[in-house]
Amino acid sequence: MQLKDKTILITGGSSGIGLESIKHFLTEGMKVIICGRDGLKLQLAKSKFPSIATISCDITKEEDVSLMHQLVMSSGGIDILYHNAGVVSVNSLVEKTAITIATNEMETNYLSAVRLTSLFLPELAKRKEAAFVFTTSAVAYLPAAFIPTYSASKAALHSYVLSLRYQLRELYKNISVIELIPPTVDTEATKIFTSAKVSAERVAKDVVNGLKNNRSTIHVSIAKSFSYLHRFFSSLAFSIVNPKNPIR
Ligand SMILES: NC(=O)c1ccc[n+]([C@@H]2O[C@H](COP(=O)([O-])OP(=O)(O)OC[C@H]3O[C@@H](n4cnc5c(N)ncnc54)[C@H](OP(=O)(O)O)[C@@H]3O)[C@@H](O)[C@H]2O)c1
Repeated sequence: MQLKDKTILITGGSSGIGLESIKHFLTEGMKVIICGRDGLKLQLAKSKFPSIATISCDITKEEDVSLMHQLVMSSGGIDILYHNAGVVSVNSLVEKTAITIATNEMETNYLSAVRLTSLFLPELAKRKEAAFVFTTSAVAYLPAAFIPTYSASKAALHSYVLSLRYQLRELYKNISVIELIPPTVDTEATKIFTSAKVSAERVAKDVVNGLKNNRSTIHVSIAKSFSYLHRFFSSLAFSIVNPKNPIR
């Protein structure tokens, strides 16, 4: 896919992987729009990258999303929707809070992606070359039991991506449906995790290369080894992801 002059909307582009990706997309000559909930974080991103557009939007709120859609459409629309916003919580399934945490993770990580995809699909359908990028995770395939409801939300998103790709394949040949599968990445979200982490820069570079090379699945670093290990040695893979010390 040719990236120059394309416009990308990055959900949750105000920190972590999304924020890091901005400069890589700008370097390719793209127009970048980001959204997030925290106005201060959006302002900081704008001061770092003055050419981007920022939109205050909670993707779990239908009215926010509808307003964002109107703003994006009135400023020329987009070619690529990069579903990056996500939340993760370390939690215990025996606590009563499990349902509250699971609801928030499912709404942010899964249902919001479904809503945004339906809303922007007619726009992407009109473009010569367009793409949806969905950020799942290595734990979509192999749950990390200390982030159980997050793992389940990413498994749901992975399953959705497979069906969306299948359904769009004949209808809209111009739209690529891409799954981005990072392992643990060094961001604010994982600061209490002690396992090995890849940099957000590595993820951003892989996303750009994946888009340029028309990849439908972008495994970052060891995420690919884990998916093979899981396929052939699932118990061993589960015990590697879930060792005795639960904070990984
Ligand atoms: N870090 C990892 O190890 C890792 C591994 C695999 C996959 N991932 C996935 O990669 C993506 C980015 O993760 P990250 O580590 O970069 O996280 P991060 O640093 O915590 O950034 C998350 C971004 O999402 C935004 N966000 C969260 N909830 C939102 C909502 N309801 N509406 C709009 N924006 C929202 C945040 O901004 P506001 O808080 O201001 O809204 C922030 O900009 C996520 O989908 C995550 O699940 C991360």
